[in-house]
Amino acid sequence: MANGETYFGTARGRVDGPAKVTGSARYAAEFAAADLAHGHVVSAAIAKGRIAAIETAAAEAVHGVLRIFTHANRPGTAWRDARYRDEVAPPGSPFRPLHDAKIVFSGQPIALVVAEDDATARYAASLLRVRYAAEPHATDLERQRGQAYVPRRKRTGIAPPPKPRGDAQKAFDAAPVRIDHEYRVAVEHHNPMEPHASTVIWEGDGRITVHDKIQGVQNSLGYITGVFGLSQKNVRVLSPFVGGAFGSGLRPQYQLFLAVMAALDLKRSVRVELTRDQMFTLGYRPATIQRVALGAAPDGTLQAILHDAIAGTSTFEDYQEVVVNWSSLLYHCDNVALTYRLAQIDTYTPADMRAPGATLGVFALESAIDELAYAAGVDPLEIRRRNYTRTDENEGKDFTSKELMECYRLGAERFGWSRRSAAPRSMREGRELVGWGVASGAWEAMMMKTSARAALTADGRLEVATATADIGTGTYTILTQIAADALGLPMESVTARIGDSALPHSPVEGGSWTAASAGSAVQAACRAVREKLFSAARAAENSPLANADPSHVRFVNGRIVLAADPARFITVADAMRAAGLERLEEEATASPDSATQKRYSAYTHSAIFAEVRVDAQLGVVRVTRIVNAVAAGRIINPRTARSQIIGGVVFGLGMALTEESLPDHALGRFMNHNLGEYHIPVNADVPAIDVIFVDEHDDKASPLGVKGLGEIGIVGSAAAIANAVYHATGTRVRSLPMTLDKLLPEKPAGRA
Ligand code: MOS
Repeated sequence: MANGETYFGTARGRVDGPAKVTGSARYAAEFAAADLAHGHVVSAAIAKGRIAAIETAAAEAVHGVLRIFTHANRPGTAWRDARYRDEVAPPGSPFRPLHDAKIVFSGQPIALVVAEDDATARYAASLLRVRYAAEPHATDLERQRGQAYVPRRKRTGIAPPPKPRGDAQKAFDAAPVRIDHEYRVAVEHHNPMEPHASTVIWEGDGRITVHDKIQGVQNSLGYITGVFGLSQKNVRVLSPFVGGAFGSGLRPQYQLFLAVMAALDLKRSVRVELTRDQMFTLGYRPATIQRVALGAAPDGTLQAILHDAIAGTSTFEDYQEVVVNWSSLLYHCDNVALTYRLAQIDTYTPADMRAPGATLGVFALESAIDELAYAAGVDPLEIRRRNYTRTDENEGKDFTSKELMECYRLGAERFGWSRRSAAPRSMREGRELVGWGVASGAWEAMMMKTSARAALTADGRLEVATATADIGTGTYTILTQIAADALGLPMESVTARIGDSALPHSPVEGGSWTAASAGSAVQAACRAVREKLFSAARAAENSPLANADPSHVRFVNGRIVLAADPARFITVADAMRAAGLERLEEEATASPDSATQKRYSAYTHSAIFAEVRVDAQLGVVRVTRIVNAVAAGRIINPRTARSQIIGGVVFGLGMALTEESLPDHALGRFMNHNLGEYHIPVNADVPAIDVIFVDEHDDKASPLGVKGLGEIGIVGSAAAIANAVYHATGTRVRSLPMTLDKLLPEKPAGRA
């Protein structure tokens, strides 16, 4: 029963687009109930210490205030958060809102003021008087780096650095060409358009329905049932639309705890929505200090790679991500030593942010490779080709597929790399210094066990369902395409349902694994329906398929057609009717193949080229062109896929030039906690971004041949821009973002 693919591989608009642009798609804070109460969070003003007292009388006296929750009167809680901890929270003692008087980070929620309406809650919250017993805090990673340690409790799913290969230090010492520098990236916050919010609908009898902003409803379900000791049958979590998340919605955030706590206590519906300022009290991309040392032969052939990263974490959880492993994955090298350490600071725990770890580590590595290219006098693209590896030297495995060489070739061709002049500052145009840079990118191509259900009804409509999310990536659309193809139906006859904890099991939408995982599960469920339908069609009276076996038929245009004689067919509706079927429903689970996983490594790759123009006097950097050539297996929908890469590249542009959560270490908090002062790129900052999908055949990474695209777009993006800035200006900026002050302009001639 092989089917043609009408939709797979074709550019399609988002099926959820009309709902989003007309406003009928509702987000977590947009659900209401007759008795809805509103909670406003009060955030701690110190970074470390204790709450000595909270005076609530003035706030309680405000008309419309229902209750003020603090650590002193918090209702009893089961705190069985172990299961939640295994899923996404880093190892340690998970943060528990309102647990006790202890303050462990600035912005920590210390009270929830619940009132009849939001304005009243917010006003009353302003009347709380909090006295603190402050203790000295440490929020500066630079000062804590001496305390750095190798994480003892490993985070699930996060590979530690591989064992050393060869003798990196000895090879480095003996190498004719050497580079040895430190690289830094500022803290960044996710800043999705939709702030974190939870609306808890009190259904009576201890039952609640929770509209949560989350990348995985079943994760929130596990958290709620564990922490509050509730039965799964009394809790349902919904998140059909997510207004961006970038990783901030992997872990249930504290507003979920507060909203559920208040609803259970008050026995009425409660909404808690964080303010934009409070979005800077959640996880973030950690600050890092990285050292990369490269040794090479005179022709740029790598002889030694040393990469050490120190990343900030909180005092209560060991947040870990894969920062350094990319340095022994991307290039061939016999002598490699990688280390990854954490240093505790008095902030909230960092969180996964789009391509966690890779974004940081690949920036440092790809900057260093660029520096090596100049030191060796080798073209920056050529040095990457010269050090190419066909195998995963970390694991001693072949790749399921790797078309990075083709990414280099096609990207360079499209960009016009061969017209680049080698020397820094050699491509000046008027007052602008022009620079071209390149970087490589890689991201793991993962697949996770996922279940899905498919239900075909007699009217010829198909519904597919799994508990995953669509965080703007296009999940609804690609699931619809895959399902439509599997049963030969028009896309208009297919509905995808996601974002409901009652649906078949799915992991969080994250890690770029959703297309491969949920897509494979939906396809498997549809195939199970197809088999049943085929049996029904064959058994129908006077069936043209009576003697056919499955390999003889195709499902196209709502018909089951004899491949050898397409004029002979039975419609899906007739087959259902003949069998007396109103509804055919099947559930299936797709799992990665463990034997394949043992034998092969699966990664996506990219080659990204950037052009910048730097004002020679003012140091203003404009990114004027980007070409990103990506090898990610089969592309389900070139339109949504391209949009993912563009989004990633823009994120990298922000990291390179503007995004920075600026700490005030005296106060131990971030100063620019708003979108006026935290600068994300806007339209005028973003140039034409040319995305190339390189042909890549992969029959091992996932049943669909798909590798995932949510994250690869950002990896390498900042490095390509930084490398272009060096080529333009001759100034190597090793600390992101590359703000004006780091690109000191030329002194005007004749002035001291
Ligand atoms: Mo992603 S950082 O797995 O949402």
